[in-house]
Amino acid sequence: MPDGLVLAIDQGTSSTKCLLAAADGQVVASGSAPVPIRYPRPGWVEQDAIEILDSVLAAAAACLEGIDRSAVVAVGFSTQRESALIWDRHTGAPLGPVLGWQDQRAVGVCDKLRGDEARIRAISGLPLDPMFSAAKLRWLLDGTPGALVGTIDSWLLYALTGSHQIEVGNASRTQLLDVRSQNWSPELLGLFGIPSTALPEITPSQGELGRIGERGGVLAGLPITAVLGDSHAALYAHGSEADDGVKVTYGTGSSVMRLGAPASGDVCLTVAWNDRLAAEGNIRSSGATVAWLASFLSLSPEQIGQMAATAESDGVFLVPGFGGLAAPWWDDTAVGLISGLTLGTRPPQLARAAVESIAHQVADVVDAMGGASRVLADGGASGNDVLMRIQADLLGVPVKRARTSSLSALGAASLAGGLTPAVTYDEFVPSGDATASRSAWRDAVRRALSSKESR
Ligand code: G3P
Repeated sequence: MPDGLVLAIDQGTSSTKCLLAAADGQVVASGSAPVPIRYPRPGWVEQDAIEILDSVLAAAAACLEGIDRSAVVAVGFSTQRESALIWDRHTGAPLGPVLGWQDQRAVGVCDKLRGDEARIRAISGLPLDPMFSAAKLRWLLDGTPGALVGTIDSWLLYALTGSHQIEVGNASRTQLLDVRSQNWSPELLGLFGIPSTALPEITPSQGELGRIGERGGVLAGLPITAVLGDSHAALYAHGSEADDGVKVTYGTGSSVMRLGAPASGDVCLTVAWNDRLAAEGNIRSSGATVAWLASFLSLSPEQIGQMAATAESDGVFLVPGFGGLAAPWWDDTAVGLISGLTLGTRPPQLARAAVESIAHQVADVVDAMGGASRVLADGGASGNDVLMRIQADLLGVPVKRARTSSLSALGAASLAGGLTPAVTYDEFVPSGDATASRSAWRDAVRRALSSKESR
């Protein structure tokens, strides 16, 4: 355990959040900065690599304001995953936008590889899907051969330390890693057409990963001692609670994760950290569904949450297949739909259906994982009590919600500093039978899936 403070930086899709943890795992300061996101065409989701770097520096500066910087002994990162970018190998300048993890433009790259789908899945542990970095990188390199490639952790490590690296858990989300040997797979590189000379070096999640240079501003001189995917970092922060539970991070999308190998082929095999494997199912649209409905109705997400607390959905289901559905369906051509509308349907029923869609999707993934004895919840949308109660009802098991916000950052701080995370929970217990609701949801999902995928 270090005799000093550990700075954790959680670089997420909509913001960068920082916290400063003391040796006892308690958070002593925090700061954040927003990150712009752009939707230039349907299905395209872009960010700017420099704006992401700037948000990291701004959030860190806000967190460290008034703190004796010499007390900070280490830096840990947790990052959004799968998002991909390329940059100039000589100047380090980004070449084009960051293609966000939700970006679907590389669906054509995947379609050309459908004949190799089983092999890709067997090696990478992931279904062939444009969410993962490989297809995005192929799309980016088509216009600009000869560049270096990376994910957000890789870009930040490069920009801050000058060394082209990627953390193994993030690498496992590229679809280019042999998930069992933890090396780049020559076969996958060949299929996606990614030159090995463009790739970063794979590093463990913990260790001396580099020292931050002058470009790091307020961070200059500090060692980076841990890097994790954000979802993986949250799992780490749940500590021993995660040993036999399923963790759900409710964010823009949701990540449902448990340690160990998957029970079914509808969820992914992923490196959690270092040599620990995890099963994971990704949901593309969770908080994003509420944000969409809020904007559609010219309301705020908070108003949607309030309406959902006071209404029933009255048979309305919202299947958020914006750009397809991910786990456990993995159908790029699934459509978004609202079913069960009547002349009496009003915004509160839609609001309730939007919140219920988050819990139903999580329940679909937990079912595909073979069930759970309890759910460990974290992430922004877990602050919604109604969502937590619905989740407990749909799964019929208790939901334990971490009281600590920024659990990903806490996980990164813990791994970076060898700290024990101090997490306490609120518990929501099931109070009703959800059989009819689950069955009606599945009917709605069947309508949203493309006919080739319907089951
Ligand atoms: O897989 C994408 C995930 O890492 C993004 O997380 O919290 O930025 O929505 P978040």
